[in-house]
Amino acid sequence: MLSEKLKKETLESHQALEKVLIQKIKSVNTLEDYSEILNWFYNFYSPIESQVDQYISENILNDYSQRRKSASLAHDIISVNGTLPENPRQTGVQIENVYDALGALYVMEGSTIGGSIISKMISDRLGLQNKEFLTYFNSYGENTMSMWKSFKESLDQFPATGEQQLRVVKSANNTFKHFKLLITQHEQQNQL
Ligand code: HEM
Repeated sequence: MLSEKLKKETLESHQALEKVLIQKIKSVNTLEDYSEILNWFYNFYSPIESQVDQYISENILNDYSQRRKSASLAHDIISVNGTLPENPRQTGVQIENVYDALGALYVMEGSTIGGSIISKMISDRLGLQNKEFLTYFNSYGENTMSMWKSFKESLDQFPATGEQQLRVVKSANNTFKHFKLLITQHEQQNQL
């Protein structure tokens, strides 16, 4: 099954990303620190979603429109800051076909699972009662696991040869890698 292959073959990239992100979250003390994390996600997801849109439609994923993340990220950034960053950055991720798109989407959808953990960590650290700031990290709320299950079912129903499945896995690993790179580059700039 493609979903099982993805889980197994991206485990290392997931752990590497989770490590840098957890480190950052543990140093969040102000809304400004939190807003920096939101900006990373927005700068990364927004250009990738635009590319994914070219290859994924409701025929492939019947609830695709519900699964887009940029709008809730933009909402949270505006709630915290009042403004959005102007031009989302280049991500290093290049989506060239439906298999690349599925790999990137796997990463963005899976982030809703960690998202509920992140949401709790951030609201505990900042004493936030107001969930208006946390709509992205809470995206599917109590439906997170059922949304994840139905996403995996759609993935597994999508016809893909062994080679095409490899392309999906490669794209997912590349997406994880570039997101981690974006975070570490920002952190290095902050330390200068
Ligand atoms: C603090 C950061 C994070 C934590 C604590 C975390 C935690 C988790 C946990 C507990 C799972 C479920 C693992 C399982 O079912 O065996 C998971 C799954 C997943 N997470 Fe994360 N995560 C984090 C960040 C992210 C981010 C930023 C992304 C992507 C941008 C991501 C992508 C995924 C994916 C794709 C899965 C699905 C794995 C599968 O195929 O079952 N995670 N995460």
